[in-house]
Amino acid sequence: MHQKLPSTRRVFRRTDNHNPGAAKVQLVIEDLPATLPPTSVLIKVHTVSLNYRDANIANGGNPWPVTPHGIPCNDAAGEVIATGSGTIDIRVGDKVAPITDTENLTGRENARSWLAADEDGVLADYLVFDERKVCRLPSHLSWDEASLIPCAGVTAWSALKDIGFGGSVLIQGTGGVSMFALKLARASGLKVIVSSSSDKKLEELRSQYSEPLLSTVNYATFPDWHENVLDITQGVGVDLVIEVGGSQTLIKSLKCTRRGGIISQVGYLGKESAKDLDELVPLLIDRRVNLRGINAGSKQDLDDLCSAMSAVEMRLNDIVDSKFPFEKANEAIEYVWQGKQVGKVVLGVNGSC
Ligand SMILES: NC(=O)c1ccc[n+]([C@@H]2O[C@H](COP(=O)([O-])OP(=O)(O)OC[C@H]3O[C@@H](n4cnc5c(N)ncnc54)[C@H](OP(=O)(O)O)[C@@H]3O)[C@@H](O)[C@H]2O)c1
Repeated sequence: MHQKLPSTRRVFRRTDNHNPGAAKVQLVIEDLPATLPPTSVLIKVHTVSLNYRDANIANGGNPWPVTPHGIPCNDAAGEVIATGSGTIDIRVGDKVAPITDTENLTGRENARSWLAADEDGVLADYLVFDERKVCRLPSHLSWDEASLIPCAGVTAWSALKDIGFGGSVLIQGTGGVSMFALKLARASGLKVIVSSSSDKKLEELRSQYSEPLLSTVNYATFPDWHENVLDITQGVGVDLVIEVGGSQTLIKSLKCTRRGGIISQVGYLGKESAKDLDELVPLLIDRRVNLRGINAGSKQDLDDLCSAMSAVEMRLNDIVDSKFPFEKANEAIEYVWQGKQVGKVVLGVNGSC
C-alpha cells in the first residue's frame, strides 16, 4: 500500500536576531515539491542533532558567511519515504542522512557547500536531497544515535586519521565532536587524555571509562595544562591533538604534541587573537608538527565510518546528553550555547521522543 506523501513540511528558519534572549529560530510551513526531481529522495526526519556551530551561527558568531534566514543544522537521520523516477542507489525504507558538505563526495572536489551555511540545513520534518548527497546509516543504531554521525562523527573520524594503534591523543573539551572522538579512539586502541573546564564532567568520564582509567586534565584550573599533558606522556607529548580551542589554545597544543606529531584543527571555541599566535612558526618548525585543518569529511569518509561502526556494532547512546522535542528548538539551541552538555543534544522529529 502506498504511503500518502506530505505536500508541506515544518521547518525552522533562523530569525537572524542575535540579541540575548531573542528567539533564534522560527517555525514555518513550506511546500514540498508535488513531484520529486528524478534523482532526489524524500526523507522523513526522525532526529536532528545539534552542534556548537548551530548555536554559534544562530547567535551571529560564525566566522564564515551564511545565507540569511537559512535553515540551521547539519546532523539528521531519517527514513526515505519516496524516490524520484531516476534514482539508482537509495531506496524507500533506507535509513539515511544527508552529508554535511554536499560538494565533498570523495575528498578531492574543489568546491564546498555546507548545509546550514551555504545552503539550507536539516532542521525540518521532511527533507528533499539528491541521492548522491545522501548516505545509508548503520542499521543497529537508534535514530538518536544515527543522527550524531554525519557532522560530529565524520569530523571526529577525519581528525583521528593517520594515528597508529597504541598512539596517544589529546581530546579537548567534552562536547559532541570530542565525545565521539573519545569513543572512536578507545575502540581503536589509542591512549586518550581528555581535557575539560569542569572537574565534575571529568569525574563522570573517568567513572565511565575506568578500564583502563582515562587520563584527564582540567584546562581551566591549570592554565598551563600542556605541562600536565607532557607529564602524562613522560615529557614526549601526544601523537595527535584534537584541537577545538583555536588560536587561544593552539600554541599550548603545539607544545604538548610530540615531534613529528599531528594537530587536527577542528574548532575555534576560544577567543580569536593573532597575538596568541606569535610563537606559531618557530614551534611548528621546531616540533615538526603536521598542523592540518579538518572540514568534517567527505561522503566517502561517512561511508567508511558507518562501515567501521557497523562492523563492531558500536553504540552511541552513552554520548547523547539530552533530548528535546522538535518544537523546543530554541531551548535546545540555548542549552548548547551555554555549553551545558557532555556529548550531544538531539531533537525528536515526527513524534520521535
Ligand atoms: N571543522 C569541522 O569540520 C567541525 C565540525 C564540527 C565542529 N567543529 C567545531 O569544533 C568545536 C567543537 O564543536 P562541538 O559541536 O563538539 O561543540 P560543543 O558540543 O558545543 O562542545 C564544546 C565544548 O568544548 C569545550 N571548550 C570550550 N571552550 C574551549 C576551549 N577554549 N578550549 C578547549 N575546550 C573548550 C567545552 O567543554 P568543557 O565544558 O568540558 O570544558 C565545551 O562544552 C566548535 O568550534 C565547532 O565549531 C568543527
